[in-house]
Formats: sequence, structure tokens, C-alpha cells
Amino acid sequence: MLKGNQTRIAIIDDDEDDYFIIKDYIQEIEDGNFVIDWLSDYQSAIDKIKAKAYHLYFVDYRLGNETGLELLQEAASMQCDRPIVLLTGKGNKAIDIKAMQEGATDGELLHHGLFEFINEEKQKEMLHQVLEKEENTNDIEIEIQHQDGEVKPCLLSVSFQKDFHPHHLIHGIIHDITNIKRAEEANIQAQKLAANERLIRILAHEINKIITELLDLTKPLELKFEKFPLQEILDESLSLATDRINLQHIKVQKNYPDSPLEIEADKSKLIIAFTNLVINAIEAMETGRGELDVSISALSNVYTVSIRDNGKGIPEEYLSKLFEPFFTSKKNGMGLGLAACYSIIESHGGTIQVESRVNKGSNFIVSFSR
Ligand SMILES: Nc1ncnc2c1ncn2[C@@H]1O[C@H](COP(=O)(O)OP(=O)(O)OP(=O)(O)O)[C@@H](O)[C@H]1O
Ligand SMILES: [Mg+2]
Repeated sequence: MLKGNQTRIAIIDDDEDDYFIIKDYIQEIEDGNFVIDWLSDYQSAIDKIKAKAYHLYFVDYRLGNETGLELLQEAASMQCDRPIVLLTGKGNKAIDIKAMQEGATDGELLHHGLFEFINEEKQKEMLHQVLEKEENTNDIEIEIQHQDGEVKPCLLSVSFQKDFHPHHLIHGIIHDITNIKRAEEANIQAQKLAANERLIRILAHEINKIITELLDLTKPLELKFEKFPLQEILDESLSLATDRINLQHIKVQKNYPDSPLEIEADKSKLIIAFTNLVINAIEAMETGRGELDVSISALSNVYTVSIRDNGKGIPEEYLSKLFEPFFTSKKNGMGLGLAACYSIIESHGGTIQVESRVNKGSNFIVSFSR
């Protein structure tokens, strides 16, 4: 039974630490004359509510197997006329209590309807339907606009008490799930990072394979030399790039001497080298405006092949790194084409030089001594 002008408060919470925190806050209120008790479980709370033992109840949302919402519903069905404050803020209970202590929020919420705090038309409509049906509904996701403008994800549970006279009662609980949502997002982020890590590991593996291949190319022993005309080697290289040449509408100009210029070569390897140069030239040129010039010439002691394009050219600061493995300026380039090219030409006793002007074009000149 209630005594004198003491305010008797019950804190219904299965966690004793929470009880102490809430109690401390309440006791800080000046001029208060409080008796504050702890009720640790659902049933003892119901018994006390039935006996009208307290003026005010604070109840935690989580109560072992039951929830504060169920307690609220049962209390209402017992025609409990004492205020019951449900604590739903999982993140920071202290703030909840403080807000209630100040009484500010409650005061400001008076004479307002829930609909005023919901921006989304769809959510308003859904809530209207729930209210029309008069069926208890749990955990509807809605977004509530906070005083400071922040929109918070919340779960709304609604229960109807139809036998309450003279009016029906509707209980609503809004559970702020901002922190839970944030934790979910952090979890998704962590999963994405893990996926990236896997990708990087796979890439590293691929690059390893390519390096091994590249090292293979530098083994001079692997080459099988036979006599081939340079014209034939260049034509086969160009024909490998036919599709790309047609796709980009590139004009190809060939300047070959009439008589075949034969060199000692591993034909398939040299074709790889020249195809790489042709493909780089194609990639440097604009569709519809490309002109590719392939020339073969003979001097007294040297045969020269030149592959010239009118593409975007190479900035001077790139020139010294061009033949290094993994040097690339392309989004999807590996930067291995010229490195491979260099090894192949070198193992044929040849040299490779570059002349280039930005926005004018590039010329790759390969020379073989005869
Ligand atoms: N004809 C060219 N015109 C302009 N830049 C070129 C030309 N040839 C090569 N380059 C520059 O040299 C870089 C290295 O070329 P390389 O062929 O080694 O690698 P990549 O073409 O970038 O990639 P990959 O050949 O492995 O696909 C290129 O990224 C580009 O910046
Ligand atoms: Mg390349």
C-alpha cells in the first residue's frame, strides 16, 4: 500500500546494474522523496501492479522471456492506472532516463499526433491501415523524424485494448533501432572488406603466374631459330589484330620493300612481340581517326621495322619506365606487353627504341643487325 507523500517507484529490469543506474538518476532529482525498489522478473512485477504497490514503474523492454510490451498490455488489462515508462533505448539508457527526468520531451509531445513525425507517405498509409484493422501489430519499420531533424529508423508496435471504458485504448511503443542498424551496416562493410581481401589474394596469385611466364621469356635457350622474311612476320602480327583494327576503323599503311628481308628468328615469339606493339598503337588511337603505319627497311648492316601511330603519345616522364614490368597508364593494363617485347627482341640480338610526342603519336623502332 502507498504511504504519505513518498513517491514509490519500481524499476522492472532483469539486470541489476541497470536498476542501480536508473536509481542513481532518479535520486539526483532535488526535493524528491522517493522509495525505489527493484523488481527483477515479469511475474513479481505483475503481482505488485495488481496490488497497486507503486506510483510509477520503469520497465525495461527486455525481460527474460517476456517483453516490457507484454507487461504493459497485461497491466492495461488489469486496469492499471499508474504510469508505466517503457525503456527501449538499447544504446544509452542513461539518456532515456535523463530525458524523462527533464520531462521536456513528454511536455513537447503533448497535443501532437504520431503522424506528424513520419515523413514517408507510404508509412503513414500503412499505419492508417493498422489502426483501421484494430489488430495488435509488432515491429513495423517506420522512420521517425527527431526534433533536431534527424530521421531515425524505429520499430513500432501497436496494441489495442477494446474493453477499456469509455474509450478504446491504443498502446504504442516506438523502439529506436538506429544503433542496431548501424551495427548491421558495419557488419556488411566488414564482409565487403573480407571479399576485397580475397580478390587481392587471387590477383596476387595471377600476377605471380604472369611473372613466371615473363621470366620464361627471358630464357634465351627456349628459342628455335629459322629463317623467315620480316614481311611475313609483320603480316601475321597485323592479322592477329584485324578485329580491333576494323572495330576502331583504323587506316593501315604498309611500306614494305619488294624483296623479302630474311632474318634468323623464332617466328612465333617475334609475332608476340610485334602484335604487342600493334595493339598498344591501336589502344593509343581514337576510334575513326587512327592511322597505323608499318614500315620495313634495309640499310647496309641493319633491318629496321617501325610501327607508328597517330595516337595520344607518351609523356616524357614515362619514357624511361616504359619497358619495366607492370608499368602501365591503362585502367585495365597489366604493363607487361612492352616488358615481354623487350625480352623477345633482345634475345634476337635486336634493339627497340621509341620516339613519341604527346597528342601527335608514337613510333616504336625495332632493329636487327644483318
Ligand atoms: N603506342 C603507344 N602510344 C601511347 N602510349 C603507349 C604506347 N605503347 C605503350 N604505351 C604506354 O606504355 C605503357 C606500357 O605499355 P605495355 O604494353 O607494357 O603495358 P599496357 O599496354 O599498359 O598493358 P598490357 O600490355 O600488359 O595489357 C602503356 O600503358 C602506355 O602508357
Ligand atoms: Mg600493351
